[in-house]
Amino acid sequence: MSSTKGKILVLGAAGQIGTDLVLSLREKHGNENVIASDIKEPISEVLDNGPFELIDVLNEERIDEIFLNYNISEVYHLAALLSATAEKLMDKAWHINMQGLLNILNVVKEKNHIKLFWPSSIAVFGPDTPKKNTPQHTITEPTTIYGITKLAGERLCEYYHDNHGVDVRSIRFPGLISYKAPPGGGTTDYAVSIFHEALKQEYYKCYLRSESTLPMMYMPDAIKSMVGIMSASPDQVKIRSSYNVSGMSFSPAEIALVIKKIIPGFTIEYQPDYRQKIADSWPQSIDDNRARADWGWLPDYSTDSMAAEMITELSKTIKKEASTL
Ligand code: SER
Repeated sequence: MSSTKGKILVLGAAGQIGTDLVLSLREKHGNENVIASDIKEPISEVLDNGPFELIDVLNEERIDEIFLNYNISEVYHLAALLSATAEKLMDKAWHINMQGLLNILNVVKEKNHIKLFWPSSIAVFGPDTPKKNTPQHTITEPTTIYGITKLAGERLCEYYHDNHGVDVRSIRFPGLISYKAPPGGGTTDYAVSIFHEALKQEYYKCYLRSESTLPMMYMPDAIKSMVGIMSASPDQVKIRSSYNVSGMSFSPAEIALVIKKIIPGFTIEYQPDYRQKIADSWPQSIDDNRARADWGWLPDYSTDSMAAEMITELSKTIKKEASTL
């Protein structure tokens, strides 16, 4: 095993970030050293190639049991409901997003030397936040239930660091784009579905307006940011609520044009739904100077390089699926 002494636990391994993260951590640290866990089974690539534990993050005893069974030194707590689902299932979102985090913080508090990663989101910002180059410290008055849970989560993380010495590290993710994990209830997920539909039928009906610019990031950059903040020395991580990070920004019309350059027959139509209001409350671009200065954050991908890779990789998956039918 390379850089960590004990094993790494990923809670939420069947989700959007978890799927990619487990595969990447296993490549780096060895399959047996990364324990994937979720309330449901992950994709077979994750399930078949290393340890998997069924865990409900609301069950603190079960989490404790995992810590007793394995020598864990790092935890990635990714289990949460995303913004669009959370608006539909408010009580469930509150419970999973808040109690889940509290349970992990309490378990980790009792142990020494465990590093904890928890993802926050651009959803902590609200309609009154400056929309362009949104600073690290600014108005945070979210109007979505998801954003409210993320903001409260950030405050909890800082509180547990300051009062209980928990080495928790966090990043405010923008919309994440991956060809491995399927989209899962986020407002920004159109930016994943658009690639699937462009390849399958050269057409996409978008639930956001054409000009709705949002901050986005390609999953390899998101993984790079998590590995970056988790490998930093504790004194480099000066913000213990959550760091702004930035990758790229685009609107549905802009990403449609980029796709059209590669798939010329692609067309898009717009039929905004309840997710438009969520998108309207979020920033368009993010100032990530603090992450760059404190622990050396630097993204690798532009919109063009992300789109080219998404189309290449998804084409392979779609071809493979077609040949097994
Ligand atoms: N991708 C997330 C969502 O749309 C934002 O953190 O819910």
